[in-house]
Amino acid sequence: MNKGKVDVLLGLQWGDEGKGKVVDVLTPKYDVVARFQGGPNAGHTLEFEGQKYVLRSIPSGIFQGGKINIIGNGVVLAPDLFMDEAKELEKSGHELKSRIHISKKAHLIMPTHRVLDRAYEAARGKGKVGTTGKGIGPTYTDKTSRNGLRVGDILDNFQEKYEAHKARHLDMLKALHFTDFDLEETEKHWMEGIEYLKQFKIVDSEHEINHLLREQKSILCEGAQGTMLDIDFGSYPFVTSSNTICAGACIGLGLGPNKIGNVYGIMKAYCTRVGSGPFPTELFDEDGKKLRDIGHEYGAVTGRERRCGWVDLVQLRYSIMVNGVTHLILMKSDVLDQFKVIKACVGYELKDGTQTKELPYDLEGVKPIYQELQGWHTDLTKMTNEEEFPQQFKDYIKFLEEFLETPIKIVSIGPDRNQTIVRN
Ligand code: GDP
Ligand code: IMO
Ligand code: MG
Repeated sequence: MNKGKVDVLLGLQWGDEGKGKVVDVLTPKYDVVARFQGGPNAGHTLEFEGQKYVLRSIPSGIFQGGKINIIGNGVVLAPDLFMDEAKELEKSGHELKSRIHISKKAHLIMPTHRVLDRAYEAARGKGKVGTTGKGIGPTYTDKTSRNGLRVGDILDNFQEKYEAHKARHLDMLKALHFTDFDLEETEKHWMEGIEYLKQFKIVDSEHEINHLLREQKSILCEGAQGTMLDIDFGSYPFVTSSNTICAGACIGLGLGPNKIGNVYGIMKAYCTRVGSGPFPTELFDEDGKKLRDIGHEYGAVTGRERRCGWVDLVQLRYSIMVNGVTHLILMKSDVLDQFKVIKACVGYELKDGTQTKELPYDLEGVKPIYQELQGWHTDLTKMTNEEEFPQQFKDYIKFLEEFLETPIKIVSIGPDRNQTIVRN
């Protein structure tokens, strides 16, 4: 940890790498956890003491030791979903009102944003993105087209502002000939969510976070989604609508680039993706099915089957580059316990037959070139330190570190908080 700087933890693949679990594991080392982008499209799973929690809008640092959790300006917030999530946690005994600080500059996801999300997807037909349907794209679109409604707006003359935004959205839906929606119930619940939000600390989070840094407080920034879903660097247009990369933490919290310390890049020992879009190492055979079954690869938000494939080191090298990753965190290694042979993509053959180790502009139709490695055929899930790892697994870790030119700092060997091994 570097004093006076934040650490950033983010996903290097297509999301669901296990960010929530690791943020929870690392929280005791930090004073503050801050989300900087995304919204309820995220589903971050944490398991401890026999309990399982899925967090969407609430940062994953709320379970350990009364830490402050900031929802930054870069996040998009749905008040109704936030209320449902927070009430559920309060019921299980977690005090949140004084600890969750919400940026006035975070944009609000309106019920009509969610309808627009569905309408745009329907209009795309076969080319649909496969969004989570949470209104993410339309909300960020309103933000960049300077039409958004922000958390700070709820403090003054809100109803009038809301109605004007809603009227504009209804015009857009009319133009799309989209009529499959009923706003009445949703709107009522959403307005309750607005009142509920007011019970939280609504802050100028850019001031707060910089003050905290000056006071030498330690801060962990929690990414959502993954680098390949980044609006600029992901597999566009099959991406989300925010900057999921490390620079997103500067934008989404108001931090200067010189305030970034360690960058923890999270990767699965294989790879998954939900929704549409290219996925070079995707498996359609028994191995893919085995990864899905053993890894329980079903979406935490939508319950959709996750597409599964081998680890893609070309893609990961790109992610490490655009994020400036300083340390890797390897997740779900235990899912490979039963595989005789493990494959890793070390290059691509492009459509014109040439080979490359650099991620190309277009991922559609590229063929992965694999290196085969020996499996370890050992149950990793009960191990407590890296000395116990079988030699083949040690070789796999070494191979990844060499190819990716980045050290692996933590190895996760199961979903529980305790199934985590910090390497020396
Ligand atoms: P996130 O969105 O990056 O926080 O990841 P998700 O929570 O959507 O997906 C990760 C899934 O893998 C969750 O169900 C976790 O409980 C689970 N998980 C995390 N780490 C491990 C691990 O090391 N091994 C296994 N088997 N499961 C893990
Ligand atoms: P976490 O934080 C995996 C995917 C959707 C879709 C695309 C755009 O849990 O890793 P959106 O609703 O954002 O407009 O959808 O992005 N997607 C995710 N995939 N994990 C996520 O979050 C995701 N958030 C969005 O499936 O393909
Ligand atoms: Mg997830």
